[in-house]
Amino acid sequence: MNDQKLIEKTADFIKNKFAREGTGHDWWHIYRVWQLSKYIAVKEKGANMLVVELASLLHDIEDHKLHDGSSEPGAVAARAWLKSLGADEQTIAHVENIVRNISFKSADIKNELNTLEGQIVHDADKIDAIGAIGIARTFSFGGAHGRLIYDPDQPHLKHYTYELSRAENTPVIHHFYEKLLLLQDRMFTKTGKQMARHRHVYMEKFLKEFYAEWEGKI
Ligand code: ADP
Ligand code: NI
Repeated sequence: MNDQKLIEKTADFIKNKFAREGTGHDWWHIYRVWQLSKYIAVKEKGANMLVVELASLLHDIEDHKLHDGSSEPGAVAARAWLKSLGADEQTIAHVENIVRNISFKSADIKNELNTLEGQIVHDADKIDAIGAIGIARTFSFGGAHGRLIYDPDQPHLKHYTYELSRAENTPVIHHFYEKLLLLQDRMFTKTGKQMARHRHVYMEKFLKEFYAEWEGKI
């Protein structure tokens, strides 16, 4: 099967699998990460585009939050899918490795992505978690999980361990401090850093506005 066919078949498979997801981890998240990955890859130059496209399409094939934080089921599923299409072992192993290491777990856990392709897909995934889209996804998640939008009596805290970050039923605004505002400093690529900076500034403006409105000041 040629590269284009592999990508098309994978996109169709993932589109069908995620068709009924409405919590922020939906096909359109995957679609945006796919487009962002291609954009960053062209800017950064030198990446293996087949690996970038397949890994961006497969990066959320399983949700670690539904598997006690383990990215292993996703890595296994990505391998099985690519094997069923007859992809070559080198491509499969590279994509599997990216799927295993891409997820944000907590502030104290660094993502181990040591290939350009992995760094590109990582940056694309995290860019889609910030800015206007990131804000929308985060409130959508909060609604789906019955969370408060904000509670000024609860202190903001960075969740230093994976267990803490999942165990607490914190308001949506807290997620900005647990994750969203940390992402710009976790970018690997130059293009990713630039894009994240723009979206970070937008989130800071949003928060400023939010707190002012909360107190009835504007
Ligand atoms: P990753 O894509 O790095 O694996 P997750 O799957 O944990 O990250 O989260 C994806 C998105 O879901 C986040 O960027 C955010 O928009 C939303 N989300 C996850 N956890 C929370 C939370 N506790 N509160 C609000 N939104 C959340
Ligand atoms: Ni994702």
